Amino acid sequence: MPQFRFTVNGKERVVDTQPDRPLLDVIREDLELTGTKYGCGEGQCRACTVIMDGRAVVSCVTPVRAAAGKKIVTIEGLANGATLHRVQQAFLDEGAMQCGYCTPGMILRAVTLLEANPKPTEAQVVEAMDGNLCRCCGYVSIVKAVRKAAEGVA
Ligand code: FES
Ligand code: FES
Repeated sequence: MPQFRFTVNGKERVVDTQPDRPLLDVIREDLELTGTKYGCGEGQCRACTVIMDGRAVVSCVTPVRAAAGKKIVTIEGLANGATLHRVQQAFLDEGAMQCGYCTPGMILRAVTLLEANPKPTEAQVVEAMDGNLCRCCGYVSIVKAVRKAAEGVA
């Protein structure tokens, strides 16, 4: 079985697996990081978003071979010990979650947005988060949370 090596949340990980296996399955099953969610499995809902070399990617349609040598961040890697990342804190403060299923993907997408555009307008947040679906329709609080997190940026 081929071997793939990459960094997940700052730790080097090595997995023996089929090259076309979805990165999502490797993250959830082999690495036991179940914060990354399986929604549609077809690249349509973005519940499975992770950050790979600074970009938000949908891990359900990303083969593990594409992750070789890359740096991946999952929702488990965002907080610094007991201190939440400011986007996580803003989601908590705004109550921007109901069932929470879309939340890891939303937060990771928002992190990449704020890295690229530290002070997005409401329209820019809506546009950037457009592909991340929330079946609980919590979009108003989600957009508020992202803008709140942005205000904390110097
Ligand atoms: S589970 Fe990956 S996009 Fe829906
Ligand atoms: S909070 Fe339930 S899917 Fe978004």
